[in-house]
Amino acid sequence: MEFLDAMQHRFACKRYDENREVSEAQLKMILEYGRLTPTSFGLELWSFHVVRSAEKKKALFHACFDQESVATSAFTVAVMARKAAFANPDGDLVHSRGNRFPDPLNVFIDDYRPYYDYLKQEGRLDCWLKSQGYLAIANMMTGAALMGVQSCAIEGFHEQQVLDVLSLDGNQWQASLLATFGYPAEAERPKIRERLEDLVVFH
Ligand SMILES: Cc1cc2nc3c(=O)[nH]c(=O)nc-3n(C[C@H](O)[C@H](O)[C@H](O)COP(=O)(O)O)c2cc1C
Repeated sequence: MEFLDAMQHRFACKRYDENREVSEAQLKMILEYGRLTPTSFGLELWSFHVVRSAEKKKALFHACFDQESVATSAFTVAVMARKAAFANPDGDLVHSRGNRFPDPLNVFIDDYRPYYDYLKQEGRLDCWLKSQGYLAIANMMTGAALMGVQSCAIEGFHEQQVLDVLSLDGNQWQASLLATFGYPAEAERPKIRERLEDLVVFH
């Protein structure tokens, strides 16, 4: 019930109470929810950037088309995904990730390579890497709601400007999804959702 309650009361918060801080322990917990989020093949080809200094928040606010949610947030998390080249099955990063698993590295690579080849051929590698960040943000947002902290997913951003704010190279990183966090300075908005029976198809 607690999870359902958090889902029902989380809402896309557009303006936060700037006088109320989110504790360091809560921030760490939100990041932990992200860290524990599963990734495809367990590769974790991502990083989480926490923007909380006044200066960087202002720059990120502009990179997000001046969305107030970013400017007033206690902090904004940007989930950044690696670019396709880093997912190469013969690359150092994949090897270092693969070496953590119980099976020998070659077993992991033999399993992974055909899927990598398929995604590459379809031109979907960057998209595959980017989409995984959405799961991390979803877990962070629901986890935050369980602690009474509100949030808003932010897809409205200028890619290059986000990279610049975070001092990241666009050949190496791409922005997946951002989310703002804080205590709301606005009333909760009720959920608007389609009925389950209109969404679900059983086969
Ligand atoms: C992937 C994604 C991107 C979003 N991007 C933005 C955004 O850039 N700015 C914004 O104000 N809300 C953004 N939202 C919030 C949605 O508009 C909001 O979650 C939706 O209308 C449902 O409302 P609720 O979250 O209050 O239930 C985004 C939500 C999702 C899931």
